[in-house]
Amino acid sequence: MDPSNLRIRGVLLAAGKGTRMKSRLPKVLHPLLGRPMAAYPLRALHQATGEKPVVVVGHQAEAVKAGLGPDAADYVFQDPPLGTGHAVAQARALLEGRVDVLLVAAGDMPLLRAETFRRILEEHLSHPGTAITLLTVETDNARGFGRILRDERGKVVGIVEEAHATPEQKAIREVNVGVYAFDAQWLWHALERVPLSPKGEYYLTDTVALAVAEDLPVRAVTLEDPQEAIGVNTRVHLAEATAALLDRIRRNWMLAGVTMIDPHRVYIEDTVQLAPDVTLWPDTYLMGNTVVEGESEIGPQSYLKNAHIGPRCRVWASVVEDSTLEAEVHIGPYARVRGGAHLGRGVFLGNYAEVKKSRLGPGVKMHHFSYLGDATVGSNVNIGAGTITCNYDGVRKNPTFIEDDAFIGSDTMLVAPVRIGRGARTGAGAVVTKDVPPYTLAVGVPARVIRRLSPPEDASSRDPSTPPKTSPKGKE
Ligand code: UD1
Ligand code: CA
Repeated sequence: MDPSNLRIRGVLLAAGKGTRMKSRLPKVLHPLLGRPMAAYPLRALHQATGEKPVVVVGHQAEAVKAGLGPDAADYVFQDPPLGTGHAVAQARALLEGRVDVLLVAAGDMPLLRAETFRRILEEHLSHPGTAITLLTVETDNARGFGRILRDERGKVVGIVEEAHATPEQKAIREVNVGVYAFDAQWLWHALERVPLSPKGEYYLTDTVALAVAEDLPVRAVTLEDPQEAIGVNTRVHLAEATAALLDRIRRNWMLAGVTMIDPHRVYIEDTVQLAPDVTLWPDTYLMGNTVVEGESEIGPQSYLKNAHIGPRCRVWASVVEDSTLEAEVHIGPYARVRGGAHLGRGVFLGNYAEVKKSRLGPGVKMHHFSYLGDATVGSNVNIGAGTITCNYDGVRKNPTFIEDDAFIGSDTMLVAPVRIGRGARTGAGAVVTKDVPPYTLAVGVPARVIRRLSPPEDASSRDPSTPPKTSPKGKE
């Protein structure tokens, strides 16, 4: 048969309890850089086969399904979990007659790459008649993996689990990674003949000896990068896997043009996107769907989650969550931007400035100790030190509007709902409870208009949507 016509499907084993994690959370859902660990091999299997994999679930099946995404795979159930061989057998009803080759992997091996899965498939498909092609790695740290048994001519003849291995077998350096391509038709029948292990489980690894007994070819592919074989059985392994994945992500971004002053002190989740010429200073955390555009500098000491940072921004010792910064925004140290905030081009936030669910127009300056919540702020507004939008009246969140070119004096309380007109000013310590008309000065507690201000010559003709003249880097 032409190998390109073979139907290939990935099967991911994720029904085990993961007892050694000592956790209420199923092992395969433990987060690794922001995503469940099993999401990694699931994606790699999908990429290598071009098809949605089948996931075997059992322990907390519904939680695992929800955690990986009900649409990310077809799910089959294994209950009770009687071993890895028994787990694969649960996919038989769904796949028998529909699939020629199974690519099997485990949900607790998050570092395996799609390229590795493709190598196994290539080896398997280019040797027709092969019953099993398995992945092995040579290591001095067997970490409980099954040992690969070869005969005097180097042929693979079996796998022995560590728990059942003799001292001589334990000394074998070649171990079973737990990824296999199987001839599906052969496997369904072989699984019926797998013996019960001394531990009371049906081991998938015992199919190797069955194939050898039938004189069917078993092939092995050896992993080039042993880090890919990190399997997670305990939280110590989880930390090792995290470190290895972080190394891989950081290296890829550096090769793609990102500067990291001290790479080991930068945390980047797998979902983050970075542009060339971004600079990351130490103690920086980039999480979720964060995007950082070109020539922006992040850190030291910054935490960005689902943040969109435009080009040429500077974020220093600050937190940005679920918010957008347009180009050339400078924030920090110690600023916090959250809850769907949007900062226009050239905005400046200084220390202890907090902006929540607010839109700031281009060129807004907010240097120290201020809070804007549920506010819409026009362009070139100055927010004096200590300004607070009193947006919560104990029941509702109320909006504040501050129009273009307004100047809010230090320590102004804006008792929402309230509107500050274009070009208006408030005096230091004003408590604003009523709207302040454009081009007037309001002072006092409660604030009263005491004077009209003359609009600048060009005020009425200027289009507020044009970028500010005071942008830190000037016009482009
Ligand atoms: C298994 C292999 C071992 C290999 C190692 C590599 C067997 C018998 N042993 O050992 O040779 O070196 O992986 O990581 O296969 N699972 C189920 N249902 C079950 C049991 C397990 O779905 O009934 C799933 C688990 O959720 C896990 C995977 O299969 O994702 C592997 O199971 P685990 O118990 O971790 O096997 P190991 O002891 O690591
Ligand atoms: Ca394991």
